[in-house]
Amino acid sequence: TQANIGVVGLAVMGSNLARNLASREGNTVAIYNRSPQKTRDLVDEHPEAGFVASESIEDFAASLSKPRTALIMVKAGAGTDAVIDQLVAVFEPGDIIVDGGNALFTDTIRREKAIRETGINFVGAGISGGEEGALLGPSIMPGGSAESWETLGPILRSIAAVAEGEPCVTHVGTDGAGHFVKMIHNGIEYADMQLIAEAYDLIRRGTGKSPAEIAEVFAAWNKGELESYLIEITAEVLRQVDAKTGRPLVDVIVDEAGAKGTGAWTVQTALDLGIPVSGIAEAVFARSLSSKPAQRKAASDLPGPSESWQVTDADAFIEDVRLALYASKIIAYSQGFDEIVAGAEEYDWDIKKGAIAKIWRGGCIIRAQFLNRITEAYDADPRLVALVTAPYFRDAVTKAQAAWRRVVTAAAQAGIPSPAFSSSLAYYDGLRADRLPAALVQGQRDFFGAHTYKRIDGPGAFHTLWSGDRSEIEAVDTH
Ligand code: 6PG
Repeated sequence: TQANIGVVGLAVMGSNLARNLASREGNTVAIYNRSPQKTRDLVDEHPEAGFVASESIEDFAASLSKPRTALIMVKAGAGTDAVIDQLVAVFEPGDIIVDGGNALFTDTIRREKAIRETGINFVGAGISGGEEGALLGPSIMPGGSAESWETLGPILRSIAAVAEGEPCVTHVGTDGAGHFVKMIHNGIEYADMQLIAEAYDLIRRGTGKSPAEIAEVFAAWNKGELESYLIEITAEVLRQVDAKTGRPLVDVIVDEAGAKGTGAWTVQTALDLGIPVSGIAEAVFARSLSSKPAQRKAASDLPGPSESWQVTDADAFIEDVRLALYASKIIAYSQGFDEIVAGAEEYDWDIKKGAIAKIWRGGCIIRAQFLNRITEAYDADPRLVALVTAPYFRDAVTKAQAAWRRVVTAAAQAGIPSPAFSSSLAYYDGLRADRLPAALVQGQRDFFGAHTYKRIDGPGAFHTLWSGDRSEIEAVDTH
C-alpha cells in the first residue's frame, strides 16, 4: 500500500501525530525513525493504525504516493538539517517536506530557500498542544508556499483541533511565517504562565491559603473571562499531593524554571524588530532568575520590607488579583500581536491576525475563550494599531486598572516579586502617557553625542551647542 503522508521521527510528538493522522478517514501513514526499534515498537503497539513502516529512507520514500509528503518531528537544530538532507536525496520536485518541530523561523527561511532550488517544497509548521494535542488535535501554524498548502491543507485540517466548528489550522504565510507565529505563541505562553504563577504567589502569601484552596480559586476563575487551558491545568497542579511526603507537590518541586529557548527567541527577535514585548521578556527573565541558585543564595539575606503583610479582606484581594491578571494578560497578547505585525512587515508575510487568534482557540497551550475577542477586534478593524485600544479590551483594562494598581503596589510593599504584573502596568501607563521622559533622554543624547532632537513646534532636527554658548542650531542632514 502507498501512504499519502509520512512521519519521520517517532519520539512522543512524532508517534502521537502519526497515530492522529492514521485515525482520520482517508489517511494512510508511512513511518520512519533513525533507530528502527522505535518504528517496530510503534507498529506492534498500534496495529489499529495500519502504519506502512520502513527501515530505510529509500523504502520510506517509495512507500509514499506522489506528491510525497513527509512530516519531520525531530528535535529542532542540527538533527533537522540531517533528516532534511536525507529526504531531499530521495524526494523529487513537487514533493513536500514539512518540519513540525520548534525551529527558529530564520532557520526555516534559510532551509526553504535552499530546498526550493531542488523543486521540492519545504514547509515549516508550528505545532502546539503538547503530547495530548498531537494525539487528539493540535493547533497547527504552517508556513511555506501556497502550492504546498493545497496538498497539505486537507491533511492538516483532518488532524487539527476543532474550535467552534472550525479546524485550528490556517496557512499563516510563506517560508518562515508559521514558525514565526509559533514562536510568538510560545512567548505569550511564557507570559501567561508567569502571570498565573505571580497571581498564585500573591494569593498564597497575602491570604495564607493552601495550594489546594488556591486550586479552587483558579477553578472558579476558569468559569469566567480567564477561562483557558493554562488556568485549568494550574488548578490541577496545585491540587496535586506528593505521595512521598504528603505535602502539596508544588512545595516539593525545585523552584528553578527550565526553558528550551522559544521564549528567548521571541524576545531576541522583538529586540531586533524594536517591539516592546516587556511582559514576555519579564517572563523569560523570571525563569532565568529562578535558575540562578548561587546568586539567589548569596542574596537571600538581603533585607526585605520591615513590616509583615497580610491582606484584611481575602476575597476582595483575590478579585483584585484576578483583574490584574486579566489586564496583564491583555497586555501580553497585545505585545505578542504587535510583534506579529512587525515580523510580517519585515519579512513580507501576509499574516491575518484575526485568523491567528482563531487557530489558537483550540488545541494549543494558550487556548482560551478570550481569543475570540481578539479575532473580533481584528475583524472589526484590520488595521488596529494596538490591541489594548480595541473597544472590548479598552473596557476590560478600564474596569481592571484600579485593582491592577492596588495589586502591584501591595506586591512592591510586601516585597513579593511580580515582574510580569508590574511591567505590564508600566507598559500600559507608558503607552497611554501624554508626555514621556523620552524627551529628556533625547536631550541627554544630544548633550553627549550631538545626536539631535526634534522640536514639538515644527519640523527639522536640532542640536544645542552644549559646550559652547548653548544656543540651538538646526542640524543639516548629511545623508
Ligand atoms: C506547545 C509548547 C511546546 C513547548 C513546551 C516547552 O505549544 O505545545 O509551546 O512547543 O516546547 O511547552 O517549552 P519550554 O521548555 O521552553 O517551556
